[in-house]
Amino acid sequence: MAMKVKIVYVCQECGFKSLKWLGRCPDCDSWNSMVAEEVVDEKSAKKKLSTDNPKPLLISNITYEEVKRVATGLSEFDRVMGGGIVKGSFVLIGGEPGIGKSTILTQALNSLSNKSFKVLYITAEESLSQVKLRVERLGASSNNFYIFAENSLNVIISEINEIKPDFVVIDSIQTIYLDEVPSAPGSVSQVRECAAKIMEIAKKKMITIFIVGHVTKEGYIAGPRVLEHLVDTVIYFEGDKGQNFRLLRTIKNRFGSTNEVGLFEMSDTGLKDVSNLSEFFLSQRQLEEPGSALFVAMEGTRPIIVEIQSLVSPTNFGVPRRMAMGVDNQRLNLLVAVLEKKLELPLFNNDIYVNVVGGLKLTETASDLAICMAIASSFRNIPLKSKTVFLGEIGLLGEIRNISNIESRVKEASNMNIQTVFLPDKLKKINFQGEVIGVSELQEVMDICFLR
Ligand code: TYD
Ligand code: MG
Repeated sequence: MAMKVKIVYVCQECGFKSLKWLGRCPDCDSWNSMVAEEVVDEKSAKKKLSTDNPKPLLISNITYEEVKRVATGLSEFDRVMGGGIVKGSFVLIGGEPGIGKSTILTQALNSLSNKSFKVLYITAEESLSQVKLRVERLGASSNNFYIFAENSLNVIISEINEIKPDFVVIDSIQTIYLDEVPSAPGSVSQVRECAAKIMEIAKKKMITIFIVGHVTKEGYIAGPRVLEHLVDTVIYFEGDKGQNFRLLRTIKNRFGSTNEVGLFEMSDTGLKDVSNLSEFFLSQRQLEEPGSALFVAMEGTRPIIVEIQSLVSPTNFGVPRRMAMGVDNQRLNLLVAVLEKKLELPLFNNDIYVNVVGGLKLTETASDLAICMAIASSFRNIPLKSKTVFLGEIGLLGEIRNISNIESRVKEASNMNIQTVFLPDKLKKINFQGEVIGVSELQEVMDICFLR
């Protein structure tokens, strides 16, 4: 049966479809994200899928194989993957351009091929020689390392069937296409259909497939959210490209915990494991400058000391700016409101910038106190003591609320020779070599830091 093709407008952020063009997606609220795509009529496409009908099985009749993990030998990468790569899994790796996605996957394939697994690197962006150059730069290439420059997924699949590799990298999902989908590579329908097809081959042939995904300017993996639902594991590169440190974070893992992060440093021979990121961050710190406060973030199960910087300066005209990097903008607005109301700081006619040094993204509310102290310190132009860490969530009433993982955070502070720790009053009975100051109100912390 000939498949009918029709035009619909598809949101490139979330995959929402509409028959009319809309300026704003009603589903995910993003602006200007609707793009006209030719899509195959779903009714005819569905008919094609339902040829063999499997029956539901009794749970006792289902047999399964133990999950087999293969360690690559890159210890931080294995840690992120939950202790090794699961055979037959489908992994999406996202991150900004130039952050190191191709590098880490090349390193992983390199070390797998040295363990006599057959590996295939499909490049739909770079030339064969570029990939070969990288492979050689990152380690001696073995006889089991295949490279293939191709954009058509059907050709790629037939080669996978031919070569029968154990591990495949497809770099990237946005540049490959299926002939039977009429829209352009990188569009929502292409990305979704390609991913579904890749998934099928990964599961049928027990091949582990990594796909590289680009990110949009908002920082999401481009393409529909369904892509993230479809794959087994989603890992994400973070970090400041200007600096060498990189953080690999698991967003989703069907075969392990999402609580792990991998820490790397980019060198001229690829990504190297970093074991102590706190040291890395602290070594770059300007001492005794107003607007800087330390916080111990939990990245997965690891505590990391990070510096939060703030700059508060009078607004010259118009509406004051609030800009947060590495901290949620909404959270910043909320904290500024608390500072204004509870401490009577006149911030309303000041621009406020907040930045987390090193490109780390803080998601915990436990960083509230450190953010507030950085802002207050810049506003008053008084530096905070350099070896002091601030831990605590701030409520709307200006109260300091409890946080989790206090032991590991304080232990890291102690390892890094921090002398003073401010923490929620209820948690102050903790083992620490230096001074522990339990606080229950934001005002108390201000008095101690700025009046003492
Ligand atoms: P790459 O993995 O190509 O980024 P992505 O695939 O995420 O776009 O890495 C890009 C940067 O890393 C590039 O600017 C060069 C740098 N790099 C090194 O510093 N050392 C190396 O050994 C390699 C391979 C790359
Ligand atoms: Mg790349």
